[in-house]
Parts: sequence; C-alpha cells; structure tokens
Amino acid sequence: MSKTTHKKIDSKGFTVWFTGLACSGKSTLADALVPILKKKGFKVERLDGDIVRQSLTKDLGFSVEDRRKNIERVAFVAKMLTRNDVVVLATFISPEIGMRDNARKEIGNFVEVYVKCSVEGCMKRDVKGMYKKALAGQIKDFTGVHASAPYEEPPNPELVVDTEKISIEDGVKQVLSKLVELGYIKP
Ligand code: ADX
Repeated sequence: MSKTTHKKIDSKGFTVWFTGLACSGKSTLADALVPILKKKGFKVERLDGDIVRQSLTKDLGFSVEDRRKNIERVAFVAKMLTRNDVVVLATFISPEIGMRDNARKEIGNFVEVYVKCSVEGCMKRDVKGMYKKALAGQIKDFTGVHASAPYEEPPNPELVVDTEKISIEDGVKQVLSKLVELGYIKP
C-alpha cells in the first residue's frame, strides 16, 4: 500500500522511522534530534535496535522471521507512544519493505527516513567492528554483507538522508524541514 493511503491519526505524536544499514548513521541522526524536539516541547522517546534487543526482543536473532518479529513488537510500542502524543525516534535496520509498510499502517503518523550509505561506506566506519566479524565469517546473516540478509531500499520514503554526501548537522536540518513540511512541527 502506498503511504498516501494512510491517514494521520489525531495526536501530537508521530514516529520518525530511520531505516538503513548498520553504521549508516541512523542513531547519530536520531540522537541529535532528541534535544531539539524536546526544546520544542515534545515528549520524545528513542527506540533503538541495539537497546531493544537487550530487553523487549532479547529472545530474537537475525533470521528473517526474527527480524520481522522484532519490528512487529517495536511498531506496537511505537504505536502506543505515538497515540499518546509522544514523538518516537525509531532506529532499526528494518531491511524489508514489507515490515516497514506494516509499521507505517500500524503507527499512522509515520515518517520514513532512509539513512543512505553504501555497504562500502558503512564498512569503512564499522564503529563496533561488526562488519569485520561478518566478513571473517564470525557473524552470519549480516545485513548487506551476506546474500542471506539483503537490504531492500525504500522505494518511497518521506526523506532520504545520504550520510556519505552530507554532514549529520545537515541531515538533522533535512529531517526538521520535512517534519515542518508534513505539518508535524512548527518551524
Ligand atoms: S533488524 O534487522 O531487526 O531491524 P536491528 O536494527 O534491530 O536489526 O539490529 C541491528 C543491530 O544488531 C546492528 O546495529 C548490529 O550492531 C547488530 N547485529 C548483530 N548481528 C547482526 C546481523 N546479522 N545483521 C545486522 N545487524 C546485526
């Protein structure tokens, strides 16, 4: 279903859903937005793959089925927060178009931001050394590295932030402008 068919729900809350490869810059962008949105008077919550996977979804791994369950559960939480006027900044690889579309349907006020960075670019950053391990065969099904774990680029996101071309500061500005344009925040 296309994004235009989903109605906004009547809440001050919304979810900004950052999708992209590991090390693409999702968390850095989202973290930078927290104080800005708080200053505008919003209640803000972060949902992040690395953190949620230590609690709510700690029973899950990285098979396609488990990733779907991971995203289903966090979308459920994001929905509840969003309808209670909270701004949710969600950062998950969420590699499939289908899982992101389901999240969009469930949450309603949903802004999909594709944090774009090539696999090569992400490998160069490799902040946690995960790509190195994946290439050495110590981690399997690593998104973007192994054929078993592809990343499906969003065909129609609200915004693409290309972190190989622009700074985090500019990325933050892009997200804020998009939120103004969509009527979620005031300039
Ligand atoms: S998702 O695919 O289910 O959306 P999620 O965003 O929650 O993934 O978790 C991604 C994080 O898990 C990465 O930042 C990385 O640190 C870690 N990770 C561990 N194993 C893998 C793997 N096989 N593929 C991708 N990320 C992995």
